[in-house]
Amino acid sequence: MILVLFFTLFSLVYNSSSKLIPEGSAVFDDSGFTVLTNTTEHSFGRVFNNETLFIKNETFNFHFLFGIVPELDQQGSHGMAFVISPTMGVPGASSDQYLGLFNQTNNGKSSNHVIAIELDTHKDEEFGDIDDNHVGININGMKSVISASAGYYDDEDGRFHNLSLISRKVMRLSIVYSQSEKQLNVTLSPAEFSVPPEKPLLSLNQDLSPYFLEEMYFGFTASTGTVGSLHYMLGVSITPEVEHPLMDLTVVPTLPPYPKKSYDKIKRILAVCLTLAVIAALVASWIGSVFYWRHKKVKEVLEEWEIQYGPHRFAYKELFNATKGFKEKQLLGRGGFGQVYRGTLPGADAEIAVKRTSHDSRQGMSEFLAEISTIGRLRHPNLVRLLGYCRHKEDFYLVYDYMPNGSLDKYINRNNTNENQEGLTWEQRFKIIKNVASALLYLHQEWVQVIIHRDIKPANVLIDHEMNARLGDFGLAKLYDQGFDPQTSKVAGTFGYIAPELLRTGRATTSTDVYAFGLVMLEVVCGRRLIERREAKNEEILVDWILELWEKEKIFDAAEESIRQEQNRGEVELVLKLGLLCSQQAESIRPDMSAVMRILNGVLQLPDNLLEVVRAEKLRGQPEISMEVLLLDMNSVNTLTFTNSFLSHGR
Ligand SMILES: *[C@@H]1O[C@H](CO)[C@@H](O)[C@H](O)[C@H]1NC(C)=O
Ligand SMILES: *[C@@H]1O[C@H](CO)[C@@H](O)[C@H](O)[C@H]1NC(C)=O
Ligand SMILES: *[C@@H]1O[C@H](CO)[C@@H](O)[C@H](O)[C@H]1NC(C)=O
Ligand SMILES: *[C@@H]1O[C@H](CO)[C@@H](O)[C@H](O)[C@H]1NC(C)=O
Ligand SMILES: *[C@@H]1O[C@H](CO)[C@@H](O)[C@H](O)[C@H]1NC(C)=O
Ligand SMILES: *[C@@H]1O[C@H](CO)[C@@H](O)[C@H](O)[C@H]1NC(C)=O
Repeated sequence: MILVLFFTLFSLVYNSSSKLIPEGSAVFDDSGFTVLTNTTEHSFGRVFNNETLFIKNETFNFHFLFGIVPELDQQGSHGMAFVISPTMGVPGASSDQYLGLFNQTNNGKSSNHVIAIELDTHKDEEFGDIDDNHVGININGMKSVISASAGYYDDEDGRFHNLSLISRKVMRLSIVYSQSEKQLNVTLSPAEFSVPPEKPLLSLNQDLSPYFLEEMYFGFTASTGTVGSLHYMLGVSITPEVEHPLMDLTVVPTLPPYPKKSYDKIKRILAVCLTLAVIAALVASWIGSVFYWRHKKVKEVLEEWEIQYGPHRFAYKELFNATKGFKEKQLLGRGGFGQVYRGTLPGADAEIAVKRTSHDSRQGMSEFLAEISTIGRLRHPNLVRLLGYCRHKEDFYLVYDYMPNGSLDKYINRNNTNENQEGLTWEQRFKIIKNVASALLYLHQEWVQVIIHRDIKPANVLIDHEMNARLGDFGLAKLYDQGFDPQTSKVAGTFGYIAPELLRTGRATTSTDVYAFGLVMLEVVCGRRLIERREAKNEEILVDWILELWEKEKIFDAAEESIRQEQNRGEVELVLKLGLLCSQQAESIRPDMSAVMRILNGVLQLPDNLLEVVRAEKLRGQPEISMEVLLLDMNSVNTLTFTNSFLSHGR
């Protein structure tokens, strides 16, 4: 009787016009199975139904068969998920722990409107995973609302039986939601069970309708990490709307074994082994020679913890020769952190900039090197590349690419420093601003760790031979901040560019970088310093002066005269307003770098009430951190909006 009822679910409306669309590594194989991932590591695949469902405020029932065939017997890859989402696939998804569902940036955002049931075969501490074999209900992010180890409750005696998701066996997942009960049940069982067990594995008492939009898509995603795994989806049924290529449910299919490693792959592995062996031999002989030289009492001390860090360690002699013995003539500049020399590496023809700093304690040295090694691994076209380092006696040397066109500083402060320096065109300025923004976005959001620059200012923006801007000295301020340099016990940064909350708390954040970047934008457009002696007193402080002009609806007059052409007006005003927004005293109304980038690219608009907000903020004087900026992340809503509560609260 129950059996009959169950099968009727499958034979309700069959909507023949809808279709599953594969993406990424997903394919439909010869047996008619949907294979979400192939043997490629760190990849993801997904299939989504091409027609929408109207399930808001509805009761529904999804039901499908799946199977996971891992490369290794005891270890799965990352897993798969059933997804209900407002779009076909979630834009910008990542592989590995993100299951092809989200990425680092959008994970957890309420604007996602995504409900997923994950079949997770990897324990990710960062998302609070309970184990490496669990089923979870996820809302808008990778952190499960509830989860349980894979298994089912026996109908007869209620006992719990474990199931292994990576057992290569086909299993059944049933997802039932009742709008009247506001309850979501998820039940896992072996495929041989024609009826899901009565007691669900997971039961979530929550009204899901707020998360659904009127029209939703459904689909499946899966991803691999360092270990390969095939993730199969074998037919899905949804009541009351759609069904997809049904398997003959009375016969449970057997999944093919994981494909044998191809000859190519074995060859690759052999090649890697050989290379490793050669490297090991080289390292061994190198270490040998180090001991030999040490024996000969050569000054250069190489400690064990230095060997393990990434970037190249230059020999002092190399740098000495490259800079012609650190001659005064080679000196490019002097900064808070030491002197910078220009040099040429013999044989390589490559020009380098060598920064010399001194320290007198060995303390903090290993952190310093750890930091250097992080910085050495960063790669971005708008960052100045750190080529390596060297230690000699009390001095520490950092070797960078040489930037022939110097720093932005001398282009925008022409009156004060360099009379005959040519001015930049608007196109060049706008490109430089975007370049710096993209470097900062990379440091803040795109690299595995959040890196805070801490010293954004025109002098740290270098210009290469194609007039692209590259951010230099990133992360270094932190090293000094950590007490590496005992002489500088002040807050690292440069006067004028230090955000107010940084002065109060001493804690640098991505937002304090945004603050400084906002000021740099203003300087680039206006071609003058933040604070400058002027005949008119009201013009002395750049930010105040721009705001004053804006209030008189003459903000364009703030721009340097040479770029005040009508065709630039839109962009110039945009950058001025954005610069003011970023350099707000109140941390909470500054946008983050991804919003800044989107505003610069014209994808996101500045709020209409920006002037009011900035003005209110100025009247308040003393910032108080309690307002919110609502950054709506969805493509459909592309205006940065302030909540009303801010404005009323503001007075
Ligand atoms: C989905 O795909 C099917 C088969 O290709 C097609 O007939 C149908 O029109 C598609 N639906 C939408 C909404 O694109
Ligand atoms: C796996 O899928 C990717 C597409 O994401 C494709 O580029 C790759 O060639 C596939 N690998 C194999 C072994 O089929
Ligand atoms: C869902 O229910 C809410 C509140 O009961 C109602 O405002 C909304 O119009 C309903 N939406 C649909 C698609 O039925
Ligand atoms: C994450 O996805 C969003 C779209 O939801 C995209 O705009 C963003 O660039 C992605 N971020 C990364 C780091 O891939
Ligand atoms: C199920 O698996 C868990 C962890 O693998 C183990 O602790 C537990 O004893 C198992 N339960 C049964 C009934 O086999
Ligand atoms: C969820 O499971 C419980 C226990 O079997 C059951 O009482 C309840 O009706 C189920 N809810 C739904 C929405 O199916």
